[in-house]
Amino acid sequence: ASTLLLWVAIAYVIGSIPFGLILARVMGLGNLRDIGSGNIGATNVLRTGSKKAAALTLLLDGGKGAVVVLLARAYAAPDAAQFAAFAVMVGHCFPVWLEFRGGKGVATFLGLLYALAWPIGIAACLTWLVTALVFRFSSLAALAAAASAMVWALALGVPQIFILCALLTALIFWRHADNVRRLVAGTESKIGKK
Ligand code: G3P
Repeated sequence: ASTLLLWVAIAYVIGSIPFGLILARVMGLGNLRDIGSGNIGATNVLRTGSKKAAALTLLLDGGKGAVVVLLARAYAAPDAAQFAAFAVMVGHCFPVWLEFRGGKGVATFLGLLYALAWPIGIAACLTWLVTALVFRFSSLAALAAAASAMVWALALGVPQIFILCALLTALIFWRHADNVRRLVAGTESKIGKK
């Protein structure tokens, strides 16, 4: 039990590193809180105009999700990977260093899915891509991709991650409450627009 707690703590700390915020500052793109949605994720980094910074944010936020799962699986137990996956998302969404005002968890979720079961990761990413290409809203694509993970987990024979996917999808929907309001009101910004 103490090993599990240790991995949950490590996962939280790694998850709480706000790569988008750090990159935007280091690359001289400004304070993300004053840009677009004010969110710390890749979508909002893209609103600074830097595709490079946005791609890096996506990679690093996704990477931390994947790394945490791989580490927990290697050094703790296979079961610990799912707890670590949950904790890395909590760290990203509620980082203690940012007074618990973190991100929305989409990149990190996709990253941890790749590490837990790569076919589900690929299927969820494709769901994001198709929804984004059709509707041009990053938030809508994120909600579709998150919800799809549960379906993919069952359809592609990985039911053991279904409950984790359901919990994390609920977290992602909760974190997108403002986006959902904007989507309904027709005021959500499209991908690539400031
Ligand atoms: O991953 C976050 C994305 O779904 C929405 O980001 O900045 O438009 O709120 P944003």
